Amino acid sequence: MPVITCIEDLRQLHKKNAPKAFYDYVDAGSYTESTYNANSSDLHALRLRQRVAVNVEHRSTEGTMLGQKVTMPTALAPVGLTGMQWADGEILAARAAEKFGVPFTLSTMSINSIEDVAEATTTPFWFQLYVMRDRDFITRLIHRAKAAKCSALVLTLDLQIIGQRHKDLKNGMTVPPKIMLSNVVDMMTKPAWGLRMLGAKRKVFGNIMGHVKGAEGIVSLSKWTASQFDPTLSWKDVEWVKKEFGGKLILKGIQDVEDAKLAVQSGADAIVVSNHGGRQLDGALSSIKALPPIVDAVGDKIEVWMDGGIRSGQDLLKALAHGAKGTMIGRAFNFGLGAMGEAGVTTALEIIQKEFDTSMALCGLHNPREITRDVILNPY
Ligand SMILES: Cc1cc2nc3c(=O)[nH]c(=O)nc-3n(C[C@H](O)[C@H](O)[C@H](O)COP(=O)(O)O)c2cc1C
Repeated sequence: MPVITCIEDLRQLHKKNAPKAFYDYVDAGSYTESTYNANSSDLHALRLRQRVAVNVEHRSTEGTMLGQKVTMPTALAPVGLTGMQWADGEILAARAAEKFGVPFTLSTMSINSIEDVAEATTTPFWFQLYVMRDRDFITRLIHRAKAAKCSALVLTLDLQIIGQRHKDLKNGMTVPPKIMLSNVVDMMTKPAWGLRMLGAKRKVFGNIMGHVKGAEGIVSLSKWTASQFDPTLSWKDVEWVKKEFGGKLILKGIQDVEDAKLAVQSGADAIVVSNHGGRQLDGALSSIKALPPIVDAVGDKIEVWMDGGIRSGQDLLKALAHGAKGTMIGRAFNFGLGAMGEAGVTTALEIIQKEFDTSMALCGLHNPREITRDVILNPY
């Protein structure tokens, strides 16, 4: 077993352990991947302001997100097909998040269902919603999330039309995996993944199969998305979703100041400045660059969070320094899961927390509340 020191170590292990089509699904952005790459490189380019001779003996990484106490200000982002990286992946990631003390968000496109995750955990989790043409199904899905006591609904606004990820097309990525010679040969080199998968609770989309007509059998994600996701989604629908759920609403996928203002008007409780991890509009600004003007415009009216490119505690510190009150991590926890299952998700969270704690201390800070833009020498 290699020594795991950082998220990059987990990524390499994930790549080794999981079938190529599923690993590639995670480690990809749309089209030229310019936004995917910018999310990380723009965070990397930021320089932190070191301070010395400050007593930092007593420190804490704790914070709150929507009034909920968190071990550090990050939540696990909704990631479709998490249960294909490791058998029962959503259940394992939700358990790791619960034990660590950060929120877990279950994707509409998850393998384990809302009910599976509710049964396996005791802390309420968040449910991420994609709005589809079949509004009866969406109404039922919202009510299933309510019945499972989900404490917030994360409505994703930036994927009514899917951005093309070249690798998925080249790999013939389907759920469950298509029997293609290249896939079979690849899977023979990952027998442990296959053995675990044989015992998995589910191997298809748990929130959808058996709940929607025409979604049976092998599903090409991009084709199915194109036919089911509703491109007419509008702010009126956002109001409808809010009313139907009746609890806390988080709007994910905001990139523009005008949209952030509309989000405030819609009565949402938080927004996530996000470009879907660089998987949608290729050419969009990196999240860290999109964040400051949005914080300046609406940061006193709504909780503004950010995701995209966070792979370390230093990145987390930089996001908070740019005004985010919270963050989400997608790939970082999926790399952990694909590397080592539940223990890998815990390891990913521990790595980020330790890096965050050390970096704060070296900047002379004791807790997230003390973080301001002054921590960055070259802020955006
Ligand atoms: C493989 C993968 C699948 C994703 N699936 C979803 C999804 O089902 N719903 C959603 O709202 N966002 C989805 N996202 C976007 C994440 O929630 C999040 O915005 C993104 O991963 C943040 O960037 P990061 O991976 O660099 O942390 C997905 C991201 C990845 C990498």
